[in-house]
Amino acid sequence: MSTDTPRPDLATKASATSGSGLWHSTPIPGVLRRLHLADGPHGIRQQHEDGDHLGIGGSVPATCFPPAVALGSTWNVDLVRRVGAALGAEASAMGVDVVLGPGMNIKRSPLCGRNFEYVSEDPHVTARIAASLVEGIQSEGVGACVKHFVANNQETDRMRSSSEVDERTLREIYLPAFEEVVRTTDPAMVMCSYNRLNGVYTGQDPWLLTTLLRQEWGFDGAVVSDWGAVVDRVESVRAGLDLEMPPSGTDDRIVDAVNGGELEESVLDTVVERLARVQERVATDTSRSREHEAHRALAREAAAEALVLLKNEDEVLPLPSGRSVAVLGEFARTPRYQGGGSSHVVPTRVTSVLEAFGAVEKEFPVRFAPGFTLDGTDAPKLADEAVALASRSHTTVLFLGLPQEWESEGFDRTHIDLPAEQVALLARVRRVSERVVVVLSNGGVVSVAEWRDDADAVLEGWLLGQEGGAAMVDVLTGVVSPSGRLTETIPLRLSDHASYLNFPGEYGHVRYGEGVFVGYRHFDTLERPVAHPFGFGLTYTTFGYSDLEVTGNDRDAWTVAFTVTNTGARAGREVAQLYTGRAEEYPTRPVRELRGFAKVALEPGESTRVELALNGRDLSTWDPEHHRWSLAEGTYTVSVGASSRDVRLVGEIVSTGDRFVPPLTRRSTIEEWRANAIGGPILAQIQAGMAELESVPRELLRMADSMPIVALATFGMGVTEEMVDLLVADVRARRRAAIERGEITG
Ligand code: BGC
Repeated sequence: MSTDTPRPDLATKASATSGSGLWHSTPIPGVLRRLHLADGPHGIRQQHEDGDHLGIGGSVPATCFPPAVALGSTWNVDLVRRVGAALGAEASAMGVDVVLGPGMNIKRSPLCGRNFEYVSEDPHVTARIAASLVEGIQSEGVGACVKHFVANNQETDRMRSSSEVDERTLREIYLPAFEEVVRTTDPAMVMCSYNRLNGVYTGQDPWLLTTLLRQEWGFDGAVVSDWGAVVDRVESVRAGLDLEMPPSGTDDRIVDAVNGGELEESVLDTVVERLARVQERVATDTSRSREHEAHRALAREAAAEALVLLKNEDEVLPLPSGRSVAVLGEFARTPRYQGGGSSHVVPTRVTSVLEAFGAVEKEFPVRFAPGFTLDGTDAPKLADEAVALASRSHTTVLFLGLPQEWESEGFDRTHIDLPAEQVALLARVRRVSERVVVVLSNGGVVSVAEWRDDADAVLEGWLLGQEGGAAMVDVLTGVVSPSGRLTETIPLRLSDHASYLNFPGEYGHVRYGEGVFVGYRHFDTLERPVAHPFGFGLTYTTFGYSDLEVTGNDRDAWTVAFTVTNTGARAGREVAQLYTGRAEEYPTRPVRELRGFAKVALEPGESTRVELALNGRDLSTWDPEHHRWSLAEGTYTVSVGASSRDVRLVGEIVSTGDRFVPPLTRRSTIEEWRANAIGGPILAQIQAGMAELESVPRELLRMADSMPIVALATFGMGVTEEMVDLLVADVRARRRAAIERGEITG
């Protein structure tokens, strides 16, 4: 603010706490300029001011990159950073100051209608992919806005439902990706979610928006509401929400709250400061080119890396050149390449599979039959024609998938099956064709168990953005070796999923009853069979792992090094994954959790040494009693492999732990006293002096283990409450002294 700019008055400051129109913040002359916000996560959706925000209304054409489901499957952080930079560059050229993305909610259930906009069921890979997107977007002078903060893991009743999540689960599963992105990439904005978290709307939760996000994680940007998420204006501003979008026209409530002494005026000054910080960081340049051609090539590259090869019997893929190919399925002509709702982009163009095959028709002579309709209407003639074509062709490639109206923002799926007519077509094709390849288009996982035996090869194509057709053909013809890996487990049955009984909740509440056992954490810990595990994906080559070495200190820094070798005959990329676990029963924890990965490109016979870092937090669990990360003393397993189920190398870390000694009270149990590094020896000494204990039966002593120590006074045994209090005071003093001497942490 220049010195001669008049200080904004109360009403002006209040006006800055909500937007002006659907896509802009409210300017304050000389202080704040009008910031332009636009979706989205995989392509810029710049709408005209009067457009509707649900994507039905048009927007300016922009490159439609692969949505997060596909970008996540690349596991390639450098590539995703380049996609982020391209998004940033297009945003800048369009005058968009802040891109409303990436979306980084955890895929708690395969049914969530918005899973195509999210990365994974795992927080580590979510954090790495989202961080790369933010870095890329912001490298172009545009702000990123991570969303939806937090526990917005379903669409059902999303504007009211309360996600009931215990503290440990929140800290270990739902918060870490946001935390890492905020701490390491400094996003300009965070968007609160629609839902409530443990009863409180996230957009008016002071713990979430201020204590955690700002004070603990150091976020200094602005918090914007999801569109229409604000329920109580005053509560929101007080809790730490800076910008209500779109404006509800209720700024006078803010003014009244200040005048009535309900809200400190300084809170509004802080909002203005935060918005000013955002604007200082962004500088768009509408004179620059939108680089659509270069971005199309990048969209194709990213899409090709996202395809996950689930099955490839007898190396039916890549397709042999010179042999006839029956291309079946309407999706080959009318691609499904993005999801519905606010992330919907008007693409600069769309390349279908048929078009892409057209460019290589000499080598791969292709004939097409749609086989089915996208709206599911009964079309026996289409199916007959497709089967006839398959019977005349060397290989059949069948493009199956979910119709657009089956998955979208705003509602959840109720099952994970493919349309029945598509599965029936596959069964008929199997009977007439010796080589059958299925290519899938779907935003959330689909069940493969009941039909995959009918296919020799299965290629999971997710939603791949506008160049998805070209990317599919690149992989089918072997120009690109598939290197995508699953970021979510494909279950055998929906009901095997840990969230099954608690999704989407009832009576306005959804209980995250599976706790930290989300996705593969559940399947792997219980050793439940799955169709395809987390991290899985085949290539056109094979990889070997060797020479694991784990080095480091005993508390907080380790390096895990190993060698990956391309043992096959073709070039390819491997995603080497690092998981940790701990055998101890308490606290209950997943058998393996992803803590690192590296994607390496190797020529046949080539090897590379991979080094991944681990820190104390990677081995810790959240202690909800003392509200802190806890690294227990003990032995931790380090597993390296090609999926959460394909562990190739195992090592271990022996850690002294963080030497945290919990404070003891008169309500701490005898067992807790005994396990306590300070209290334990003192208790042992006292017990040694109590001759009467000798005659107490063993089972009675065990019963006493779970009693608060003060309960001993109730049972006589020569112990009084005063004696217990003296003991507690003594142990506390010793604990304080040990902390001061640096022997333990408190
Ligand atoms: C979505 C957000 C989106 C916003 C603006 C909301 O419905 O949940 O992800 O950024 O609309 O379009």
